[in-house]
Amino acid sequence: MRDVSKFVEESIQKLKDEIKETAIIACSGGVDSTTAAVLVNKAIGKQLVTVFVDTGYLRKGEAEKVQELLKSLDLNLHFIDASKEFYKALRGVSEPERKRKIIGNLFIKVFEREAEKVGADTLIQGTIAPDWIESGGELRDTIKSHHNVGGLPKDMKMKLVEPLRDLYKDEVRKLARHMDLEFAEKQPFPGPGLAVRVLGEPTEERTNILREACAIVEEELETAARRNECELPWQYFAVLLPVKSVGVRGDVRAYGETVVIRAVQSLDGMTASASRLSFDILERISVRITNAMQEIVRVVYDVTHKPPGTIEWE
Ligand code: XMP
Repeated sequence: MRDVSKFVEESIQKLKDEIKETAIIACSGGVDSTTAAVLVNKAIGKQLVTVFVDTGYLRKGEAEKVQELLKSLDLNLHFIDASKEFYKALRGVSEPERKRKIIGNLFIKVFEREAEKVGADTLIQGTIAPDWIESGGELRDTIKSHHNVGGLPKDMKMKLVEPLRDLYKDEVRKLARHMDLEFAEKQPFPGPGLAVRVLGEPTEERTNILREACAIVEEELETAARRNECELPWQYFAVLLPVKSVGVRGDVRAYGETVVIRAVQSLDGMTASASRLSFDILERISVRITNAMQEIVRVVYDVTHKPPGTIEWE
C-alpha cells in the first residue's frame, strides 16, 4: 500500500458497490477490526451493524473500554455478553487447535444469530494478510488457525467481505493513523483472546487468574516505558501454564501456578524477537504478581524469538 488516501478512496467505492443491504462486523476493539469497521462505516454508515462480543476471554476492563471506544467512533453498536456460552463450549478442551476452532465457530454462531435479527446479508471481517498466510492454504502449512479464518463454517449464509485482507500490521496502523484513529499503536490481541494464553482448559477460574496477571504485565511495562526505563514492547502479556510447581509462602509449602511473561519486538508479527527487558522491570512484575495472587508461586520470562517460537504460546 503505497498511497493511503488512494487505498481509502478505492476501498470505499468498492465497499459501496459490494454491499447492497445491511452488513455486520465483528469488532473486538483491536486495531484490525476497528479500522475495518471505521472504513466500512465511511462507505455505508448506519447500514453497518457493529457487534462487540464479550467472549469471557477479554482482558481486564476491556469490555467497558471497547464499548466506550466504539460508541465514540459513532458506530451502530450491538453489545453481546456471551461469556457463559464460551466457557461452557470450552469445558474439557485443552488442545490449542480445537480451542481455536470451537471459539471461531461459536463466534460466528453468535454473529449469525445477531445478523438474522438485524437482517444482515454481509459479514465484514478485519482479516489481515498474516492471518490467512499462517492459517494455511493450498501451498502453506497450518501454523495456527487464526480466529477469523479457521472459524468460518463452509455453509455460512452471509457474503464475506475482508477490506484489509492484503495489508500487513504496519500498513493497517498507517491506515488507522491516516483516519485519525488514536488507537493505532495499540498492541495486537488474538481473536481467541485469553483462551490461548491459559494453557490447558481455559476455565472461568483460571482465566480470571490470567486476566489479573496480564493486567499487571501491561501496567508495569506501560509505566516503565513512560518513565523511559524501556521501550514499550510491540506486544507484552502473561501466559498461564498448566504446570504446577513447589514454592514457599511464609514458612509454609505452597504448590501453585506458573505464569510466563512474554514481551516481543516485531514489525508485523511474522517474526519477532524477545524483548531485552531489564531485570529490575522483570523483578517488579514478578513481585507484584506473586503478591497479588496467592495461587501463583513462580514467574518466568520467555526469551524465545519467532521463529522458532510463535508470539502466543498456542
Ligand atoms: P503468533 O502467535 O502466530 O502470532 O506468532 C502473530 C500475531 O498474531 C496474533 N494472533 C492472532 N490475531 N487472530 C488474530 O487476529 C488470531 O487467532 C490470532 N492468533 C495470534 C498474535 O497475538 C500476534 O500478534
